Amino acid sequence: MNEPSYREPRRTKYWPVRIGLVAVALIAASGAWAIREISGQQSETKVFSKYVDASGAISLPDNFETAFVHIGTVAVAPKPDQPVDELHGTYTRPEDLAAFLKDGKFPDGAVLVKEVRSTGNSKLTTGEAAYGAGIKVWFVMIKDSKGRFPENELWGDGWGWGLFEGEDRTKQVAVNYSTECRSCHVPVKKQDWVYTQCYPALNAK
Ligand code: HEC
Repeated sequence: MNEPSYREPRRTKYWPVRIGLVAVALIAASGAWAIREISGQQSETKVFSKYVDASGAISLPDNFETAFVHIGTVAVAPKPDQPVDELHGTYTRPEDLAAFLKDGKFPDGAVLVKEVRSTGNSKLTTGEAAYGAGIKVWFVMIKDSKGRFPENELWGDGWGWGLFEGEDRTKQVAVNYSTECRSCHVPVKKQDWVYTQCYPALNAK
């Protein structure tokens, strides 16, 4: 019969402490969860692409000439009766080429670099040759299948769009993809905006 009188005071004594401890634990846990959420979001943006910062600014991959795969070159003459005066060489990361050959599409984070060079034109032992000379510009497209930068005017239609002038690899000069890039790529909208027919490596069997 002593038991109730022994237990009662014990409960009244420790319950508030317990509730307090549970509350502290809950607050700590939700704080930790919030921190994980925020840092998770940041690292998601960071790991998305090493060529894109948190605001969506695009940089030219500095090592694309040696680390990327050349998927094709387009020779362009200004008019039908004039010689070729530009060469457009396009490059992608090896993993993007592998993914395209597997699924027929570019994966999230895929990178395309189009290098535009003027030409040297002369008669070689092979014929009337046009070969790559000075750099004019680099165009860059980075695949974004999640619509990460809705406020940034260089992002839309599933890609980030960038332009670098030949004199400075670090200077991105495009301002608005929908006025500077989009209309010229509309003919290949159904190919996810890429001129895939121009790149033999994408059609390799
Ligand atoms: C005058 C039309 C025109 C404009 C403007 C234009 N493009 Fe293109 N782009 C093309 C054509 C055509 C090709 C493929 C054939 C070639 O290179 O000539 C191409 C190819 C590319 C490629 C190689 C991959 C692909 O899609 O085939 C990239 C990258 C690219 N453009 C990015 C851009 C970006 C970024 C802009 C805007 C800053 C832009 N382009 C503006 C016509 C254009």
